[in-house]
Amino acid sequence: MPELETARLRLRYFTLDDFEDLFRLYSDVEVMKYLSPRSREQTQASLIKHIQQWQEHNLGMWAVVHKQSSKLIGRCGLGFLDNTHEVELGYVLDKSYWNLGLGTEASIATLNYGFLTIKLKRIVAIANPQNIASRRVIEKVGMKYEKLAYYYGQDVVYYAISQSEWQPDKALIG
Ligand SMILES: CC(C)(COP(=O)(O)OP(=O)(O)OC[C@H]1O[C@@H](n2cnc3c(N)ncnc32)[C@H](O)[C@@H]1OP(=O)(O)O)[C@@H](O)C(=O)NCCC(=O)NCCS
Repeated sequence: MPELETARLRLRYFTLDDFEDLFRLYSDVEVMKYLSPRSREQTQASLIKHIQQWQEHNLGMWAVVHKQSSKLIGRCGLGFLDNTHEVELGYVLDKSYWNLGLGTEASIATLNYGFLTIKLKRIVAIANPQNIASRRVIEKVGMKYEKLAYYYGQDVVYYAISQSEWQPDKALIG
């Protein structure tokens, strides 16, 4: 299982000790507006899934650590889109760190891992149509809008990018 580093972030594996930090994030109504806030039990189940998915599939969610403060400020990585075999990019960051380019920075590292390390052919991303920040991150990393779709019980916009289209130098962090 790899750990990644970017200019401002360390993407490391989750451990059970991350529960309180993850719960603070997953129970925050504003942060989880488009994903639904999670209870302690749901967060514990998510944390276990974040840990186990790596062991089963060589991909998963990293804990996002802000290097300057050493704080766990979110999670980002790859997963399987709503019971399909498609691999999706996903991210959640603490609201104190929004709009600094960190979501994009973590996403670029994730796509580099997906395309260059584990050689995926295609990665997708979905968002609630009203989730402007998420859509902006998806667009900034160069993913292309394909369709309106329905996943996780909601209407979503669906974007994708193929390995041959991935150009990390063109992704905009700012
Ligand atoms: C989605 C998320 C990870 C983005 O992280 P981030 O670090 O703020 O992302 P970035 O700073 O890289 O980019 C955000 C972009 O959205 C833009 N943006 C944010 N809110 C906006 C708004 N209300 N209107 C217009 N643009 C907005 C920012 O200006 C920025 O674009 P820019 O660089 O062109 O100026 C963060 O907002 C988050 O954790 N949201 C809650 C969880 C979530 O919804 N996850 C996604 C589920 S699909």
